[in-house]
Amino acid sequence: MAGRILIIVDGPAALTYGTPMVTALRQRKYTVQVAPTAYPGPSATAFVSELAWTTLSGHPCKTIETLDAEAFRQQDLILLAPVSHQVLDIFLRGKALEYLQAAGKPVLAAVPRLSSDPQEDPTEFLAKMPPRSILLQGDTLLDLGAMGTLKAPSLEALLLTVDSILSKNDLAGKRVLITAGPTAEDIDPVRFLTNRSSGKMGIALATAAALRGAEVQLVHGPIQTTVPALTNLHAVPVRSAEEMHHAVLECWTNLDIAILAAAVADFRPDHYAPQKIKKVDGQALILNLRRTPDILAELGTFETRPFLVGFAAESDDVEVNALLKLRKKHCDLICANDIRKPGCGFAVDTNQITLYSPEEAPLHLPLKPKRELADDILNEIVRRMK
Ligand code: PMT
Repeated sequence: MAGRILIIVDGPAALTYGTPMVTALRQRKYTVQVAPTAYPGPSATAFVSELAWTTLSGHPCKTIETLDAEAFRQQDLILLAPVSHQVLDIFLRGKALEYLQAAGKPVLAAVPRLSSDPQEDPTEFLAKMPPRSILLQGDTLLDLGAMGTLKAPSLEALLLTVDSILSKNDLAGKRVLITAGPTAEDIDPVRFLTNRSSGKMGIALATAAALRGAEVQLVHGPIQTTVPALTNLHAVPVRSAEEMHHAVLECWTNLDIAILAAAVADFRPDHYAPQKIKKVDGQALILNLRRTPDILAELGTFETRPFLVGFAAESDDVEVNALLKLRKKHCDLICANDIRKPGCGFAVDTNQITLYSPEEAPLHLPLKPKRELADDILNEIVRRMK
């Protein structure tokens, strides 16, 4: 793959994570230059010498302290991997920030998964970064030997993100709406109806679209999965189907693509009980349920609309049901997943999708990680939009 990457490494992770990362990036044919930290103490050069970085990367190594504006301008991507939030903070207050902003190249910072500490708010980082920059969070435990451990995104996740940023910018200028996760329909202050959606499929699509340059609105229900912090990915958290309906309509201007991957509850309790419902011995509780708005079906009736993609989670007659949804909801494309198959559908990291459209024969995509599948789905959307 073509692309020039400036890699900033720090601390003992430079040895255990930085060196295999540089090798892997070179194997993928990227041109890499390493800029290690070189302060007194456990900086990157204390663990791997400048000569070793030059040898490993194939390009003269310059410590971060000696880099000038030109060194940033010549790159296609600036990679800080992995760094702690403290190092990121220090880095972003120095001269390097000026150079980064002047160069305008995307920045990928691999950091530990954020805790609930408000000081680790990624919005501050992103506000200072050029477009398509990403704070990639992870909790893969790195063994730093005598130096302890560090959490970071896996090397695989990092390489996939680098590939996405550098290989395609085909959604630049496009506005994309994505829905993800379940909705929760409250019964009383403690109980609610929901489903097993984790939001992983929708988040994978939103991440892939944003890394390919789109301005993405991600409307998601209650989820535990982290939404990556990206300058052009805007998360809109909601709770119920009603709230998701409103949020989607709010985003409904000048869209190019809408992908509805959320598992929206089809029913909600007729009445919300403001006090916790008490159980009475020997008595059943009868809940009356009413339909929620079918968001996708409503969007399908709009005269001016973007390329409209729906999902279908099926447990039987996948093709028949997917084609029924395609026609009934007036979609351009339906992504059907057979939720009975192992590794498919709800709350897993992989999925297998078959694409149905009014014009073309069904396209079976193989079982693969949702993040990779997201790129395949987007490739098909881009091709069919032409
Ligand atoms: O979130 P994950 O754990 O990663 O799981 C991914 C997934 C299984 C949720 C995802 O791949 C998926 O299949 N999403 C759609 C699930 C679903 O509810 O399908 P459905 O067949 O009930 O709905 C069909 C389509 O209509 C969907 O695009 C849905 O978003 C939409 N819909 C449904 C009901 C409703 N009230 N409003 C809607 O917009």
